[in-house]
Amino acid sequence: MHWKVFFAVFAVFQHDFLNAELVSAASAGVVSWISSNILYCSMNECCIDSWIPANYSGLAETLKSKLHGQHLVTDLVIKYLKAHGRGNPSKALVLSFHGRTGTGKSYVSRLVAEKLFYNGMESKYVHLFSATRDFNHIEKVPTYKKNLRDHIEKAVKECPRSLFIFDEMDKMPPGIIDTLKPYLDHYEQIGNVDYRKTIFFFLSNSGSNAITERALRAWKNGEARHSLKLKEMEQIIQEQVLNTKNGLLTSELVLKNLITAYVPFLPLERCHVKQCIRDGLVERGYYLDAEYVNDMLVREIADELTYFPKDVSLFSVKGCKSVHDKIVYVKEDF
Ligand SMILES: *[C@@H]1O[C@H](CO)[C@@H](O)[C@H](O)[C@H]1NC(C)=O
Repeated sequence: MHWKVFFAVFAVFQHDFLNAELVSAASAGVVSWISSNILYCSMNECCIDSWIPANYSGLAETLKSKLHGQHLVTDLVIKYLKAHGRGNPSKALVLSFHGRTGTGKSYVSRLVAEKLFYNGMESKYVHLFSATRDFNHIEKVPTYKKNLRDHIEKAVKECPRSLFIFDEMDKMPPGIIDTLKPYLDHYEQIGNVDYRKTIFFFLSNSGSNAITERALRAWKNGEARHSLKLKEMEQIIQEQVLNTKNGLLTSELVLKNLITAYVPFLPLERCHVKQCIRDGLVERGYYLDAEYVNDMLVREIADELTYFPKDVSLFSVKGCKSVHDKIVYVKEDF
């Protein structure tokens, strides 16, 4: 072989050799990058399915057994979560929870967080805001608005499937809610971030008087509580929300139909409170099963709560809210 040819072949060979080496080094890099990521995400919360299992069947089961007296809530919430979680939603899911204190608005939010996110309320993708805790100084509203925008944008950039819960929506200072508007709309992107996979829960007492009146009228007319229909309750809420002058109500969210659905929480009757008491006693380890709980004990704890209206004592004033305190109080000397 001529030496020039030899060198040419050698050069090609060497060149290929180097290339192969480069390729294998690069792929090793990718593999190690992927595996270190897998390792990282096996120990640290990441925005992936294993940390966001979205267990809808588990959620449905839990709501059916643990949420008492709210026949309209479970199916509605599951239906919207499922529809939104599947494929590519056209806008963020916005559910507005309405009802008196203690009827289960926060409870449902927590259960959803627990079944959607492995870390539940502790997940870094679940964000809870409360009007009286986070936005209580009216003079700071401009700062609040900026911070809220920054917070949401950073959060959704990190994980498009974030859940935002706004408690006491009816006590939000004006302006805060309007800050949320762009994120709830049908935009494909805002500043390169897609907000359509995000979930917002708005919790408020607004509309609760109208809900209560309707439930009371049903009871007085001998209509079954279960016969109250979603459509009618939604209308009742919407009317009251639009006619009252505060936060949610004057906001354009309602007018622009940015709220996906209104979720009515009915006032709780004594029998529902008793179910909460049974669950509470089991949770605290006094009993193994709600069925074995002593009826006398349940009645005694239920008697500690106040009911309204005065003439019929139908509904619990605070729903199931102070049940846990009453359990401790009564159990002391039962
Ligand atoms: C979903 O939740 C149910 C009930 O809590 C549980 O039994 C089931 O193992 C969960 N499934 C997944 C995939 O986490």
